[in-house]
Amino acid sequence: MKKTYLLLLTLAHIACFAQTDAKLQAKLDQQAKEIEPKLIEWRRQFHQYPELSNQEFKTGKKIADYLKSLGMEVQYPVAKTGVVGILKGSKPGPVVALRADMDALPVNERNSLPFASKEKVIFNGTETGVMHACGHDGHMSILMGVAEILSKNKNELKGTVKFLFQPAEEGVSNGEDAGAFLMVKEGVLENPKVDVVFGLHIQSLLPTGQLAYRAEGLMAAVDAVNIKVTGVGAHGATPWDSVDPIVVSSQIIMGLQTIVSRQLDLPKAAAVITIGSLHGGIRRNIIPEEVNMEGTIRTFDLEMQKKVHEKIKLTATKIAEASGAKAEVTISDGYPLTYNDPKLTALMAPSLAKAAGAENVKVIQPVTMAEDFSVFQQKVPGLFYFLGAYPVDMKLTKRPVHHTADFMLDEKALVTGVKSLVTLTLDYMNMPKK
Ligand code: NI
Repeated sequence: MKKTYLLLLTLAHIACFAQTDAKLQAKLDQQAKEIEPKLIEWRRQFHQYPELSNQEFKTGKKIADYLKSLGMEVQYPVAKTGVVGILKGSKPGPVVALRADMDALPVNERNSLPFASKEKVIFNGTETGVMHACGHDGHMSILMGVAEILSKNKNELKGTVKFLFQPAEEGVSNGEDAGAFLMVKEGVLENPKVDVVFGLHIQSLLPTGQLAYRAEGLMAAVDAVNIKVTGVGAHGATPWDSVDPIVVSSQIIMGLQTIVSRQLDLPKAAAVITIGSLHGGIRRNIIPEEVNMEGTIRTFDLEMQKKVHEKIKLTATKIAEASGAKAEVTISDGYPLTYNDPKLTALMAPSLAKAAGAENVKVIQPVTMAEDFSVFQQKVPGLFYFLGAYPVDMKLTKRPVHHTADFMLDEKALVTGVKSLVTLTLDYMNMPKK
């Protein structure tokens, strides 16, 4: 009973702390609603002219010009094609960073929308279409809307807002630093020093208007694994003359499956090991000398991540050794865990409810996709969440899955996206200092 009372008191305090003046809140909500036609127009322009990772030249220029037109300080280009806008409020306070990613994907768009992309590029030697097939067009449009509304209301801002328009979230294959890594390296979290970072991702399978989040690990840490198995080649008719790297590779793949299923403390956290590419041999009756495989590792726990890496190396090298072959394992770091600071998440959850309606805010299970928003979260506390954008009205025949030709989003979600980021920013600024 006492505990309940204390809890209620604490919750009441939190609610009170996170309170932006109700009049101001109503005004901002109204402005978010009014800006909807612009949000849709921006999103469609970005959608029609998508650009791949680190190629977001026209996209970046358009954003930089727009932020300049709002009268804010703009740094451009940052991290190749990125843009940073700095909006100083009229009163002192914390520095809140808001992030949107900018890149599209090498996907051929499959729909009859009037603003469908017709862009073509050569990607890895193959001609392909380019498509905003993950919703980053929506993210940019939302953040431009937030920039416009907060600029209009800068006299009400107790602190500074940094708008981070980030290139290359989808990653680059040439081994260079990209996206969030490069932005952090180039100092976007400094001068002025960022206190907190907020970001969202459109989720096309979640109903429009819903927001979904969880404290701690929201999205997985991802690492890449490459395994080269070297054996001895022979005629396919005389396998006893060979050390067959194809058979050894099959054993290794099966062995890797037992790491997650038999060696990890699964109630603690989930993990995934997928081998997605396997190359060896050229003809049915030649046993090759070498097989190469590539895989992806997803984890939610630092200790487990280390253990998985060690076990993959051990399993692959020892299985190969048992057959007289050799396995060389290379594991390279991808994106870290998207980790929502638990204290910050608890403090800001009421703001999400305020923006979308409490009935539209869900706490969800971890997701095994990854995000380089996590790179900012390694430096400053951050909150990342999903914005539902399932296009109910469009009567789709195919599920609008991210990264596919059938991806589609509901533009009605854009306003909720704007409201959520505006509310988080204002509420964070209005919290009393510790
Ligand atoms: Ni994405």
